[in-house]
Amino acid sequence: MQFDAVVIGAGAAGLFCAGRAGQAGLRVLLLDHAEKVAEKIRISGGGRCNFTNRDAGPANFLSANPHFCRSALARFTPADFIALVRRHGIGFHEKHRGQLFCDDSSEQIIRLLLDECAAGGVTQWQPCAVQAVRAAAGGGFELDTARGSVRAASLVVATGGLSIPKIGASDFGYRLARQFGHRIVETRPALVPLTFDAADWAPFVPLAGVALEVGIATGSGRAAGHFTEDLLFTHRGLSGPAVLQISSYWRPGEPLQIDLGPGQDLAAVLREAKLHSRRQLGNELAQHLPQRLSATWLSLQQLPAERPMPELRDRDLERLAQSLAQWRLLPSGTEGYRKAEVTAGGVDTRELDSRSMESRRQPGLHFIGEVVDVTGWLGGYNFQWAWASAAACAGALASAKKSQ
Ligand code: FDA
Repeated sequence: MQFDAVVIGAGAAGLFCAGRAGQAGLRVLLLDHAEKVAEKIRISGGGRCNFTNRDAGPANFLSANPHFCRSALARFTPADFIALVRRHGIGFHEKHRGQLFCDDSSEQIIRLLLDECAAGGVTQWQPCAVQAVRAAAGGGFELDTARGSVRAASLVVATGGLSIPKIGASDFGYRLARQFGHRIVETRPALVPLTFDAADWAPFVPLAGVALEVGIATGSGRAAGHFTEDLLFTHRGLSGPAVLQISSYWRPGEPLQIDLGPGQDLAAVLREAKLHSRRQLGNELAQHLPQRLSATWLSLQQLPAERPMPELRDRDLERLAQSLAQWRLLPSGTEGYRKAEVTAGGVDTRELDSRSMESRRQPGLHFIGEVVDVTGWLGGYNFQWAWASAAACAGALASAKKSQ
C-alpha cells in the first residue's frame, strides 16, 4: 500500500501530526504497537491532562541545543492549542502558574485528536508492530509491518521516550534514528523523584508524607536549575513538583541545595523571636516549618527543642537558620523510567531542521515529540512541545506535497 506519509506512534505528537497532515490533503497512515491510543494522555495530569501552559516559551525547555525549539514553539503557540480545545467545546481551567487542565477528563483531549484524524481521513492501524524500515531506491521509505508492507514518501517518528515502559514506551525511535546515522544525546529519566542511600536517608524516613514549599537548586552555569515549588518527603527520598523540576537538571554526583524557608530571613525571624517570644525553640520553629520536620531538624542539629527562646545562644540560632537555608544533600539516583514523566535527551537536534523536524541525513524522515532532545518543565510544557513539533512537521509535509 502507498501513502504520502506514515506516522509511527499514536501518542500526543503522532495523533496531532497525522490529523493536520490528513486535513492538508495527504494520505496518512498512523500506526502504533500498543492496543490503545495515547495512553500517556489518558493518565496525564492526574486524569485531567495538563494539556498546555499559557506561558510556554523556549526558556522552559532543556536541550543540548537550546535554540532548536524556538521556531516550532513560535509558530504553534499555547493560544493556538487553546483555540482548538475551545473549538471542540472542551471546558478547562488554570490551576497553577499557567497550567491548563480539562475540567472533566483527559479522554476529551484524546477524543479531540481522534476527531481531527477522522476529519483528515487518516488510516489507523493499531496494534501494529513495525518490523523493518528501509529507504526506498527511488526515494521515500518501505516498511514491513505486522499488517503487511507499506510505502510512503515521508516517515514521521513519534514514538516518544522510555518513560513508563508498561504502557508501550520503547527505544524504537532511537534505534531508527541510529539506523539512519543520527546521534542520540544520552537519555536519562527526568521529572522523576530522587532517591538517597538508605543509611543517609534513615533519619528522614519518618517524615514520609510531609510537604512544604522550598527553594531548590543544582548545577552551575548554563546547566543550572532553580525552582521555588512544593517538596514532598517519601520513604526513599524526595518528590513533589520542586524535586521533579530539579531532577531534569540533576546529574549523578552533583549535590542539591535546598532552602527550607524560601523568601524569609529565618535568622532575623529567630533573633526577633528571642527578644519577644517565650515559646520553646521547637514550638517557635514549628511556626515556620511543618511540625514533624521541625522536630527532626532540631534533633539532627543537636539543638534543644524544649529550651525557651530567650535562653538560646545567638550563634546557635544563626547556625540553625543557616542549616535550614542551605541544606545540601547528595542524591544517590532517581526512581528511574518506571516513575519518570519524561525522558531527557534523545535524537540530537543538531541534525534536524528546526522548521520541519526533518532529518538532515535522510530526506523525508522526521522526528517529533519526546523522542527529540527537547524536554519541558513540569506543567503542560511537554504536551506543548508535542503539539508544536507535530504542527511544524505537518506543515512541512503539506508544503512538500504541494510542490510535488
Ligand atoms: P507518547 O509517549 O505520547 O507517544 C508515543 C507513542 O509511540 C505511544 O503511543 C507508544 O505506544 C508508541 N510507540 C512506542 N514504541 C513504538 C513502536 N516500537 N512501534 C509503534 N509504536 C510505538 N506532559 C504534560 O505536558 N502535561 C501533563 O499533564 C503530563 N502528565 C504526564 C503524566 C505521566 C504519568 C507521564 C508518564 C507523562 C506526562 N506528561 C505530561 C508527559 C507527556 O505525556 C509526554 O511528554 C507526551 O506524551 C509525549 O508525546 P509523544 O507523542 O512524543 O510520546
